Amino acid sequence: SRKIAVLTSGGDAQGMNAVVRAVVRTALHEDAVPYAVMEGWKGAVEGGSFIRKMTWSDVSGILNEGGTAIGTARCEAFRERDGMRKAVRNLVAEGIDRVVAIGGDGSLTGADELRAQWSGLLDELVDRGEVTREQADAHPRLHLAGVVGSIDNDLVGSDMTVGTDSALHRIIEAIDAISSTAASHQRTFVVEVMGRRCGYLALMSAIAGGCDYVFIPELPPEEGWEGRMCEKLREGRAAGRRDSIIVVAEGAQDRQGNPITAKLVQEAIQDRLGEDVRITSLGHVQRGGTPSAYDRWMSTILGYTAALEMVHAGEGDEPCIVGTRRNRVVRLRLMEAIRETRAVKGYLSSGDYEAAVDSRGPGFRG
Ligand code: F6P
Repeated sequence: SRKIAVLTSGGDAQGMNAVVRAVVRTALHEDAVPYAVMEGWKGAVEGGSFIRKMTWSDVSGILNEGGTAIGTARCEAFRERDGMRKAVRNLVAEGIDRVVAIGGDGSLTGADELRAQWSGLLDELVDRGEVTREQADAHPRLHLAGVVGSIDNDLVGSDMTVGTDSALHRIIEAIDAISSTAASHQRTFVVEVMGRRCGYLALMSAIAGGCDYVFIPELPPEEGWEGRMCEKLREGRAAGRRDSIIVVAEGAQDRQGNPITAKLVQEAIQDRLGEDVRITSLGHVQRGGTPSAYDRWMSTILGYTAALEMVHAGEGDEPCIVGTRRNRVVRLRLMEAIRETRAVKGYLSSGDYEAAVDSRGPGFRG
């Protein structure tokens, strides 16, 4: 029967466990044999006990846990041909040629590279005597389904990535906690949130937290932003507001592409308003803790769909990403989604934010 491996790669995210659990249990339900590749692609390169057959109860009790129970790593060796060849050898030795990979765009690009190189690597392994011709012929290609696990919500084509909703909850809890101490002292707080080149977490938490100002990579402010921001804050104080909270995305920048850091914002306010300003950088707290209800049920459906894709994958099938659009599960072409995502990131790092916004389509502006 068909063997389906699941792995988590790159930075962890709440909800990855729900995907893993759904893949394992769907595979069993469909009479396929589920495997977990421990520690991401590193486990595929290492082989041996890193590739484990999974049972129903192996994924019990993980649905409500943050992180990933099967481990993750950023694997340098997997970027080299030698590492990829070992991964193919180890997977084929177990009879595995169907993989559900959960990770960010970097991990999924790596996965697709393995898929593209698979048959060439198999030939090399046969030449080296590490794989028999029969084994190679039995697994001529790699079937691949990706699920985007990242709190950054940075995949073009999908509305929400696994972990984003939980990270938002974490940020909102922190902002609520900060509001009360800020109000007591009539202080201003600058809260730095994660997201790499994507401002989703910053923007949504600023709205949900009722914050006063937000800086995101997608909308670099025009020159003189310091003065305009301080004017807004001054107006708020004059209207009787006791706390001021500003959210800064870690990738925030100005129109010239210079970073707008929490420290820069702090200094601007201190200099102009003479206020007491504190910085809180939320860091990895955002990636920890229990997954939200959404990150459990939606991730379960994504894992279920990805596993079914792998159970039924056939000759001509293309690799896909299972994502969401308007609360429905959609199947995206893997490389197209990754290419578009990379393009947006490229525009943002070059400071061409108009192109970045345009390339995300009309829906993004709306
Ligand atoms: O991509 C997820 C993320 O948490 C980003 O928001 C952040 O920039 C980065 O990973 C942090 O990476 P690390 O965990 O390696 O410090």
